[in-house]
Amino acid sequence: MLTIHNLSAGYGKVQVLHGISIDVPKGQVVTLIGSNGAGKTTTMRAVSGMIAPTGGEIHLNGKRIDGLEPYHIARLGLAHSPEGRRVFATMSVADNLLLGAFPRLTGSRPKGDVAADLEKAMALFPRLQERRTQLAGTLSGGEQQMLAMARAVMLNPEVVLLDEPSMGLAPILVDEVFRIIERLKAAGTTMLLVEQFAAAALAVADYGYVLENGRIAVHGRAEKLRNDPAVKAAYLGGGH
Ligand SMILES: Nc1ncnc2c1ncn2[C@@H]1O[C@H](COP(=O)(O)OP(=O)(O)OP(=O)(O)O)[C@@H](O)[C@H]1O
Ligand SMILES: [Mg+2]
Repeated sequence: MLTIHNLSAGYGKVQVLHGISIDVPKGQVVTLIGSNGAGKTTTMRAVSGMIAPTGGEIHLNGKRIDGLEPYHIARLGLAHSPEGRRVFATMSVADNLLLGAFPRLTGSRPKGDVAADLEKAMALFPRLQERRTQLAGTLSGGEQQMLAMARAVMLNPEVVLLDEPSMGLAPILVDEVFRIIERLKAAGTTMLLVEQFAAAALAVADYGYVLENGRIAVHGRAEKLRNDPAVKAAYLGGGH
């Protein structure tokens, strides 16, 4: 579904990713684990076209996407829920969600039933349902995070990139985010997940990759990584 082969990327002269390869098969959840600054967000940005890769290839559904513009990559079915709370502050919750479906409304993605999917998203995120006419900028941080996730899902995407969906959330909302990820997975959504709570991410994921200084250090089936002594010691201590 999504294959990243030998990807290099960075910012200006600073190279962050040194030839990483990741495979996200259809219907699976793959998690990318790593310390702060390892290059997880940079990987997401390179895949969604926010930064241009300097080497390697990325394919979505067999189609080469590296070097394409973000809007073009979105049209091909890649949705990115970015790190931080990137919502349209002066628009309502419902309008933010409809904007997520924009390529469907303009005919550059299969249309499907946008109105029905809006109601499905509301059912998946009850907090958003209660606040559907509220301006997104007035939502709490955690609610904005959920809105960014729900907006990504509204594309009806082939693959969703989730960059730290639980960042800054109270424990009860972290649990809710992971429950939502479980539900999306059960509905067959293909996801690449970056999470500070590595143990919880490996519990929901099928497969995992460990990124260290812009290189893949270890990868394997999620349950195998969960029991790997080195992974445990470095990434699974305490936390959620
Ligand atoms: N816009 C930017 N310009 C220059 N350097 C950047 C930029 N964004 C990130 N970097 C650098 O690239 C490296 C990787 O950052 P990245 O955000 O990908 O890490 P991360 O794995 O997502 O970390 P975290 O867990 O803290 O989110 C870091 O050294 C960071 O300082
Ligand atoms: Mg990051």
